[in-house]
Amino acid sequence: MLDQLEDLGQEALSGLEAMEDGDALDAWYKQYLGKKGALTLALRSVGDLPREERPAFGRAGNELKGKLEAAYQACAQAVAQAEMERELEQGALDVTLPGRPIGPGHLHITTQTLRQLTAIFAEMGFQVYEAPEVETDELNFGLLNMPPHHPARDMWDTFWINDEVLLRTHTSPGQVRVMRERYPEPIRVILPGKCYRYEQITARSEHQFYQVEGLAVGHAITMTDLIGTLTEFARRFYGPDRRIRIRGSYFPFTEPSIEADMDCILCHGEGCRVCNYSGWLEVCGAGMVNPVVLQNGGYDPGEWSGFAFGFGVERPALVKYGIDDIRLFYGNDLRFLGQF
Ligand code: FA5
Repeated sequence: MLDQLEDLGQEALSGLEAMEDGDALDAWYKQYLGKKGALTLALRSVGDLPREERPAFGRAGNELKGKLEAAYQACAQAVAQAEMERELEQGALDVTLPGRPIGPGHLHITTQTLRQLTAIFAEMGFQVYEAPEVETDELNFGLLNMPPHHPARDMWDTFWINDEVLLRTHTSPGQVRVMRERYPEPIRVILPGKCYRYEQITARSEHQFYQVEGLAVGHAITMTDLIGTLTEFARRFYGPDRRIRIRGSYFPFTEPSIEADMDCILCHGEGCRVCNYSGWLEVCGAGMVNPVVLQNGGYDPGEWSGFAFGFGVERPALVKYGIDDIRLFYGNDLRFLGQF
């Protein structure tokens, strides 16, 4: 049996000598190494041999297979090279044809929106402060007036690194960081950045998204300053005719807390699918900085006051550009991304 294998190997290798065209090479592969090729069948028949001959035959067969595969690869390269040279000689290969164009890239829609938002607040005197995405439990919750077991923590479940460290659920922990760094200066900053939540992904909710937080701390800052800032923002971002409506709300880190809505940019308050037939679209959560948080940041609430707000980046972009599914932002589909 081993002799037969050797003959098969010699026959196959001599078949490769002087091989010049691709079709003949394919036929050679089929004849020896294909599914029903001579060597494949020989190897498959190992079970028919007497038990003591099987190991030596299997070893020799596999060695031959490796040798033939390598010879085939080398021959395939030589044949391809020869074919290309022939085509070049005959002038069949036009090396002056232009290649496939690579279109210029551009910024992702989220980055574009972030930059628009940052520019608007920069014009209104807000600096940018960047805080880490990986946060401590204390900054994400505790110092924002949510001690362990506070029920409001349920609204912001997240991904934990260990018992103390997590991926931040909102940009609000940056409030305490910036206060501790800037005391005793007045503050007017926005804090843009990525947030994470352990929640169901839907057309409106992702488990990763961007937020922009705003924080102003000074002497005699009032709710009127907050409402004026949000109204000005809505008009600059969504259009000059926007109207703002304020509702009472609850956040542990602001007191009092509000939600700001604006009249729907599609139906102008008439009611449509986008605004759920209410005529209003949510802009952000906000409020006056809770005295506990001011104190945690090092500011005496008897002397200082402040406002804070926080909104997403993708959801405003959905509204502004009429996109109906937030999942498109992270789907990496160029047909979507190329439109912005
Ligand atoms: C907060 O995160 C508060 N920290 C906001 C705040 C800051 C209130 C300062 C008061 C003072 P909320 O959970 O509502 O609030 O999220 C704020 C915004 O983040 C939402 O309006 C929405 O635009 C965006 N957002 C929240 N969850 C998601 C999500 N899963 N996918 C996309 N965007 C989201």
